[in-house]
Amino acid sequence: MEFFKYYNPTRIIFGKNTISEIGEYIKEYGYNKVLILYGGGSIFSNGVYSEVSKSLQLNDIISVEFGGVQPNPTLDHARAAIRIIKDNNIQAILAVGGGSVIDEAKSIAAGCYVDDVWNIFEKTESVKKALPLFTVLTLSATGTEMNSFAVLSNTEQKKKWAFGSPFSYPLVSIIDPQVQMTLPWRQTVNGGVDALSHIMELYFAGDSAEATLSINEALMRTVIKSVDELQKDPNDYDSRANLAWSASLALSGLTAVGMNGGEWSVHRIEHSISAYYPNVAHAEGLAVIFPAWMKYVNKQNSERFERWAKNVFGVDSINEGIDALINTFKRWGAPTSLADLNVPSEMIEQIAQNSMLLGIVGNKHKIDLDASRSILNLAL
Ligand code: NZQ
Ligand code: ZN
Repeated sequence: MEFFKYYNPTRIIFGKNTISEIGEYIKEYGYNKVLILYGGGSIFSNGVYSEVSKSLQLNDIISVEFGGVQPNPTLDHARAAIRIIKDNNIQAILAVGGGSVIDEAKSIAAGCYVDDVWNIFEKTESVKKALPLFTVLTLSATGTEMNSFAVLSNTEQKKKWAFGSPFSYPLVSIIDPQVQMTLPWRQTVNGGVDALSHIMELYFAGDSAEATLSINEALMRTVIKSVDELQKDPNDYDSRANLAWSASLALSGLTAVGMNGGEWSVHRIEHSISAYYPNVAHAEGLAVIFPAWMKYVNKQNSERFERWAKNVFGVDSINEGIDALINTFKRWGAPTSLADLNVPSEMIEQIAQNSMLLGIVGNKHKIDLDASRSILNLAL
């Protein structure tokens, strides 16, 4: 097993009717004025907002509210939130929503202590401090509720970039799987695809870390089974809960132990797709690129790919495994080609070039400009 570091300080409160506890946790840590950050308004129609505000009131916590975080959150909105925090002497952030809301909250939390928040993404300023962050998760997908990463889009410069810092873990994250029953089917699928993708980005880079490989195979099977069950019954609590916890674990550090840092080429190429097409959801881009990446790289790592095909899908060959993955995505209604995303072949060059702005990506499978182009062509 390779050298590794493991750190995850986030306190997870998981289960039915746990949202009403958020005020107590914020109070326990000694804060009494928070910024509530949210997205396009789903929290008002599914009852999450009223649970949160009741709990804050009961615990004498004052709040300033700021909504409008977009899926694929933007730099401009984050800058506006930082101004509000500074003008109102806010002590902590409470993010209520999916990955986009939580990611923007992490960017803001760190961005309050640097000259400009985008410098963190460009790595011209480093994170040494961040406002405390509490989250109420409403969409299990990214794992951001239990990790240190955030992704933000600089729409002007067409850069969708990430940062991670030990100061960016949420202090407390509340996950009540019940509130995910209001998700449109497309978003449930996105959750499953993103969680699966995080595990796969790690799994194919790992060497002999048997415990992690086995945990990751079990998690991949659990994600697929849970989404299949939810397709039959979106109100099946146990499947919601199993998908939620698998998605949190998928990018929590646990699945990365001994995995050499992971590959992350599929994520890099997807981020370049969303940089040009902000309406393409993160997981939709992943569903299109992952099978293409697998077709491109599997011969360099055939033993691991065979093991994956057998232990995740119960099939005997790599090609059958890749077909099974594509069929799973199709069965769920996820896109599986660039055409499904309305991305024309003429855009491949620009997307490939964009994916190289941060240099060659990958671990066992180094992806350069030519390789990125070839993968995108395999996804047409
Ligand atoms: O904005 P609202 O009205 O809340 O609606 C959202 C949004 O339209 C809706 N939604 C969320 N919870 C709901 C709900 N609708 C009904 N009922 C609920 N309970 O779902 C839509 C999508 O939400 P969003 O937060 O954008 O989705 P997701 O959680 O998939 O986050 C995607 C973002 O996270 C980044 C992605 O690139 C993308 O920007 N990622 C973050 C990572 C991380 N921090 O570790 C890793 C990932 O690989 C990823 O890059
Ligand atoms: Zn992802």
